[in-house]
Amino acid sequence: METKKSNSKSNSKSNSKTNKSNEKSTKNSMHSSQLMELFVDELKDIYWAEKALTKAIPKMVKNASSQELIDALESHLEETKNQVTRLEQVFESIDKKASGKKCDAMEGLIKEAEDIMESCEEGAMCDAGIISAGQKVEHYEIASYGTLRQFAETLGLTKAVKLLEETLNEEKAADVKLSEVATAAVNVDAAEIEA
Ligand SMILES: [Fe+2]
Ligand SMILES: [Fe+2]
Repeated sequence: METKKSNSKSNSKSNSKTNKSNEKSTKNSMHSSQLMELFVDELKDIYWAEKALTKAIPKMVKNASSQELIDALESHLEETKNQVTRLEQVFESIDKKASGKKCDAMEGLIKEAEDIMESCEEGAMCDAGIISAGQKVEHYEIASYGTLRQFAETLGLTKAVKLLEETLNEEKAADVKLSEVATAAVNVDAAEIEA
């Protein structure tokens, strides 16, 4: 009798455990579907941003004077075009059609770069302004891809993690390159120009 009682007790305990774990897994799946929604939303945002950059970077190249800066921008323009394709592969890996959603932050950063280029005089000062605007863009991208990669990892999207990580590394390298160009020549020349 006692054994039966203890069995039934343990059964009810294990039932409540099962219920709790079911509840937990339902909650988890709810969370993962919400995270998936956020992931797709942020993908659309950066897809729009990268496409906008393929048009904005050539304007920066046109306004730059230092050959080192021109080379850095041109090489990152090629990478950016490739990043658009890579994002299309990420969309494809989760069976979604690639589409963009206007990214207000990137639109603002590009507008800021255009304002700088309109108001600066050609030469080292303009180059310093372009680098400053360019680095703000890279930092925004690093933040976005870092988050996207983390989301993909949590969601178990192995292929997306790999693709996003490749781009994240390119953005980090582009930022480092711009810092090098700035310290190597541009900022020194700009400092020599009297305000
Ligand atoms: Fe990019
Ligand atoms: Fe970039």
